[in-house]
Amino acid sequence: MPTVTFRGREIECKEGETLRNVLQRAGLSPHNGKTKTFNCKGFASCGTCAVAVDGEVSDVGIREKARLLTPPHHPNYDLRLSCQTKVLGDLTVEKYPGAWGTQIADGPLGPVDEGGDEGGEADAAADEPTDADSEPSEAAAD
Ligand code: FES
Repeated sequence: MPTVTFRGREIECKEGETLRNVLQRAGLSPHNGKTKTFNCKGFASCGTCAVAVDGEVSDVGIREKARLLTPPHHPNYDLRLSCQTKVLGDLTVEKYPGAWGTQIADGPLGPVDEGGDEGGEADAAADEPTDADSEPSEAAAD
């Protein structure tokens, strides 16, 4: 049974489960700010469920690849759409700030606080797209 580590929490799931579903079942979200409500609900079209993954996961599909090539995403970000990613083994997942989670240079969001609040400054700032949402960062381009 794989373990997904996300924002200071460890979540067990079934092999083959969709990462977005695993996080949401645990009361967490791969979305920032208002995109927790306003998103495509897992159809690989909005791109707001993007996360960085380290571990064994399914390959990138055609629809996911197309979305991750479309701004504000950029291939250099090396992100995955959690709604298209199947968990195949233990996994560490990080979410970056920004409406699309593409503010890589700002570093990943910290642990969810004890009360389960995913908020914080980075999350509050996630509602407003910034230049970092539309331009590849130098850190990501290296
Ligand atoms: S929820 Fe929209 S792309 Fe994943």
